[in-house]
Amino acid sequence: MFRRLFSNSAVRAGLSLGSAAVLGHCVSSLNSVSSFRDVDLPFASSLFAESRKPPVATISKTGDYKAVRTAIEQLISEDINIAPTLLRLAWHASGTFSRSHNNGGSSGGRIRHSPERQWGANVGLSPVMDALEKIKAANPWISYSDLYTLAGVVAIAEMGGPKVTWRSGRLDVPKGTGIENGEVEDGRLPNADVASKQPVPAYVPQDGWSEEMASHIRLIFNRMGFNDREIVALIGAHAVGRCHPNASGYEGPWTRDPFGFTNSFYVELLNASNGWHKEQNSNGSVQYWDKNREIMMLPADMVFVQDPIFYGFVVDYANNADKWSSDFAAAFQKLLELGCANLQDANV
Ligand code: HEM
Repeated sequence: MFRRLFSNSAVRAGLSLGSAAVLGHCVSSLNSVSSFRDVDLPFASSLFAESRKPPVATISKTGDYKAVRTAIEQLISEDINIAPTLLRLAWHASGTFSRSHNNGGSSGGRIRHSPERQWGANVGLSPVMDALEKIKAANPWISYSDLYTLAGVVAIAEMGGPKVTWRSGRLDVPKGTGIENGEVEDGRLPNADVASKQPVPAYVPQDGWSEEMASHIRLIFNRMGFNDREIVALIGAHAVGRCHPNASGYEGPWTRDPFGFTNSFYVELLNASNGWHKEQNSNGSVQYWDKNREIMMLPADMVFVQDPIFYGFVVDYANNADKWSSDFAAAFQKLLELGCANLQDANV
């Protein structure tokens, strides 16, 4: 395991998919979308009327997933910096799901195609999709959508996080299938700030902002089917990784151990001695720095201590790492399975 190799201070801290139903149904035994009706989407019917078979055959052999897992572990062992971005790729590939539209989500692997690949929110993810190409080339039977989601799960484990149950069987769709065939519009992923480009006065009362920001976050995550506790559990992934000026325009890590998957995001967020203060970057983005300018928070992160309901869960997770770990694992599995059907236990 990679994490053991990096236990120093720098790092401490298909089988069944032959069915067209996969694209027409939305089921998940784990989440609140389980009450959905099976919906006959025009997407599925038009595709299959033409070809009478799934757009991309991704029949997998049981057991192959372990080899893919090993290859992802190897990739991470070559450069740990890729791990948080792989996690982010899995989340962005999945976070487009809409309950009410019954589209989006990881199945289809649409994030690899333009225009989704070029969305502002996905800047910085192309290099890791490219890095996974050699694993795809060596294992052409696995779908991109399975590969991207599995990579996120492996990255979490390699950073010392919980085992997230991962199930196989997502289908890929070809490029250019169009909105009528399941492509989704930009704007489904969360903004780090709902007012970032506005000039920031020396002191901005936080209340107005936090309410607007909290509504935005709830809108985005409720659309996927997540409740407040699940939203807070998921945001704890900001324990790892960092912001990149050339990607999001923000900079810096959230925690002092950006490759350690712990509950440190909540602990740092609540730590008043960090002296969080707001600054505006040269590109106009606003973020919060601790007093030594070592770690940072986004306006969206700050909402989790400003909103009283979110705050309660933050305190809970800061005080109970095990609880967070298991809640995160459940919420992340749910995220990766939104909009997917007929997934199979992969035992990987
Ligand atoms: C309110 C919701 C969220 C907002 C506004 C948000 C925003 C951001 C931003 C702006 C970045 C910096 C990207 C860059 O510059 O490379 C980032 C990175 C990251 N986000 Fe989030 N995020 C949210 C939720 C989540 C969730 C739910 C997860 C996973 C479950 C997640 C995992 C990550 C990870 C691991 C990174 C680090 C990536 C790296 O180091 O390359 N985020 N996020």
